Amino acid sequence: MAQLTGAERAKYVQGMFAGIAGRYDLMNRLMTGGQDVRWRRYVIRQAQLPPGGSLLDIATGTGEIALEGLRQTPRLRAVGGDFTLEMMQAGRQRAERQAIRWVGADTLALPFPDDTFDAVTSGFLMRNVIDVPAAFREQTRVTRPGGRVVVLESSPPKKNALQPFIRFHLNFVIPTLGRLIAGHADAYRYLPESTQMFQEPESLAAIMRQVGLVEVSYRLFMFGTIAVHVGRKRGE
Ligand SMILES: C[S@@+](CC[C@H](N)C(=O)[O-])C[C@H]1O[C@@H](n2cnc3c(N)ncnc32)[C@H](O)[C@@H]1O
Repeated sequence: MAQLTGAERAKYVQGMFAGIAGRYDLMNRLMTGGQDVRWRRYVIRQAQLPPGGSLLDIATGTGEIALEGLRQTPRLRAVGGDFTLEMMQAGRQRAERQAIRWVGADTLALPFPDDTFDAVTSGFLMRNVIDVPAAFREQTRVTRPGGRVVVLESSPPKKNALQPFIRFHLNFVIPTLGRLIAGHADAYRYLPESTQMFQEPESLAAIMRQVGLVEVSYRLFMFGTIAVHVGRKRGE
């Protein structure tokens, strides 16, 4: 389904996440051997949120990154936005996530004024969006001058000796877990498919620079299959 474009793709993505919302967090832990917790901690450290600051975690899903923001930052105002309500409903049921302000939002048209947040984070969003530069422009718009945009996303596996093992994990282990645990093999076939078709980390960094972010850098995890990109909005 990764070949779908425009509104059709957005609708497919929403339906897919609505279908797996209840098992989403458990699947993440199983697929990554618990490593995703470490990546989210790193995302929040890169956001450099001040005490009492504000965070928008867009495509928050069940609110995992927003929650990590609350853990690391005293008195943080954490907004979690997503266009799949079922994902946010699954997150809201968890007691420790009550402090998140949940908002229905599309990353291509964020319902916030310019320069609102100290940082905007996203996790596993960008390979789903129909217009990546537009998503970055919108995230940058709502970030205050000097604030940070931080992106956690999977990356296509590199051509090296590990590639067959990584492909086996992506194309066999993940869909099998998806079928057995989430009861939704399709969604977990989409994940490897969209990962393998997504931008190389350097191309994603180039798009961030094109939309005006500065000091753009990235770090790779998990044999180069996960990337965390960070850029700063000009000013201050
Ligand atoms: C793989 S989940 C990631 C959830 C969470 N960020 C995490 O790190 O676990 C992707 C989320 O992106 C959301 N999403 C995809 N496209 C979106 C868009 N255009 N605007 C807002 N949310 C979007 C989906 O609804 C889904 O909840």
